[in-house]
Amino acid sequence: MGLTRVWRLVGFAILALVFLAGCRSTTANVTTTAVVAGNAVTGAAVFVDARFACTSCHTFEGISDGNTGPILTTIGADVAVRLTDGSYPGAATDVVSYLREAITDPRAFVAPACPAGPCFDRVMPNNFGELLSPEELADLVAFLAAQG
Ligand code: HEC
Repeated sequence: MGLTRVWRLVGFAILALVFLAGCRSTTANVTTTAVVAGNAVTGAAVFVDARFACTSCHTFEGISDGNTGPILTTIGADVAVRLTDGSYPGAATDVVSYLREAITDPRAFVAPACPAGPCFDRVMPNNFGELLSPEELADLVAFLAAQG
């Protein structure tokens, strides 16, 4: 391989890196200004992350058997129904915004059914908006929205 060719390749690699870096920062901007399209696969890992303890309170078939909060195995489909049957009076307009609210502001709307009966308010921690990074929250929401 001639020296010119090597330099041409190096130049191309640098251009590609600059281009990719540009793409990354665009994505980051979207992340902070709009609702992010999260990654459901990464979201599953966030759900089982011991730092957040979702699994200690929630049952998710095949993953966890918490008994304090609602069963989340089909949460995406459950929320879609709730948004159209008039049982949810809140501000969320789609499954993603409902789940974002449910996770970051659980007192805004108390889910109707928990394993032992009606759900209690003020049980789910209300500081996940601070504990989860914007990416973790988006991924978690994408994971839950895809269920059902
Ligand atoms: C200490 C127990 C506890 C922990 C920890 C907990 N939750 Fe909850 N969660 C609840 C309870 C109780 C409710 C029902 C009351 C309410 O809606 O606030 C609930 C409600 C929800 C709902 C709404 C369900 C519906 O049908 O509207 C979602 C979604 C949810 N939790 C997800 C999570 C995720 C994700 C985590 C981890 C980041 C988590 N929870 C951690 C107890 C918990």
